[in-house]
Amino acid sequence: MFQETIKESLSFDDVLLRPQYSEISSRSEVKILQELEGCGRFSLPIISSPMDTITEASMAIAMSDHGGLGIIHRYNTIEKQVDMAMCVMQCQCTTAAAIGVSDDFVDRATALYDAGVRLLCIDVAHGHHSKVRYAIEVLRKTFGSSVHIMAGNVATLEAFNDLADWGADSIRVGIGGGSICSTRIQTGHGVPTFQSILECSNSNRDVALIADGGIRTSGDIVKAYAAGADFVMLGSLLSGTIESPGESFLGEDGSKYKTYRGMASKEAQRSWRGRFASVEGVSHFVPLKGRVEEVLSELEIGIRSGLSYTGAKNIPQLQAKARFIRQTNSGQIESSTHIRGRQ
Ligand code: IMP
Repeated sequence: MFQETIKESLSFDDVLLRPQYSEISSRSEVKILQELEGCGRFSLPIISSPMDTITEASMAIAMSDHGGLGIIHRYNTIEKQVDMAMCVMQCQCTTAAAIGVSDDFVDRATALYDAGVRLLCIDVAHGHHSKVRYAIEVLRKTFGSSVHIMAGNVATLEAFNDLADWGADSIRVGIGGGSICSTRIQTGHGVPTFQSILECSNSNRDVALIADGGIRTSGDIVKAYAAGADFVMLGSLLSGTIESPGESFLGEDGSKYKTYRGMASKEAQRSWRGRFASVEGVSHFVPLKGRVEEVLSELEIGIRSGLSYTGAKNIPQLQAKARFIRQTNSGQIESSTHIRGRQ
């Protein structure tokens, strides 16, 4: 084995954005509109993750109503996924759905395409893989440029460039950072999501970078955009909302909860394939949060405010002007609320 000096990798909490001179007098002056090849513009560049406790038709419609995008998960029969896609299509928005890379992936992609889906997301844990290359090639050969191909996930610049060269239009960046993810514990592999975004943003390929996994706050979203992400993908921040799939239930403490689970958790694998192999995720109960619109509105306010601290009117300006600084452990403690006493 040849080992260069071990590279330091930074997480969202290791950095802060330096506040800069601003002439923005109101958050409404900030426009966070972003374009996705062949799918138009999104006034809120947030995508809900294709997970079975995050995105089915209701979430995709709610995301679209608020200017974002929802990708319908693939952990169901082709017929069910097509039905969900048809529900979303009536609301006149981009309809997006996930597919895998084995078994029925061509049949699934064709059925979704025939139903009007124009964004197909090749949704696998390790995207820098020959099977992903093959899947992109097949989709391009079959649908030409009439479909937007999102692929991933990747963690490194080599992988990002390869997927772009294989024909992806957008790439999900982040391995091992998800709130429900145990990939790093199970396999020893991964890269902090912030570091992956920084690294992949050095690519000279013209494809969109979707930051995915480990985003917990609007502050993390602003850091992700500033580091080079065009869109962010969210799981946990949207979990427990009324529009997320699954019934709510009463917990022992009398509060209402919903389930949020990793797609490689034992529980999820059992329900979508009847058995489990390598477990790389966990399943959790999360408190019921209310409507997704409320969550997105709050995030949007934080994002707009974040851009104004850099004096940026839009995301490209933020990316051009942003200056990150490192913070120490004591800086991290100071950065989270640290009042002593009782609420
Ligand atoms: P979160 O926003 O931090 O909750 O992360 C959500 C992301 O975690 C998803 O968009 C996927 O990329 C990733 N993910 C989903 N399920 C699993 C899993 O079981 N193991 C590892 N990563 C997962």
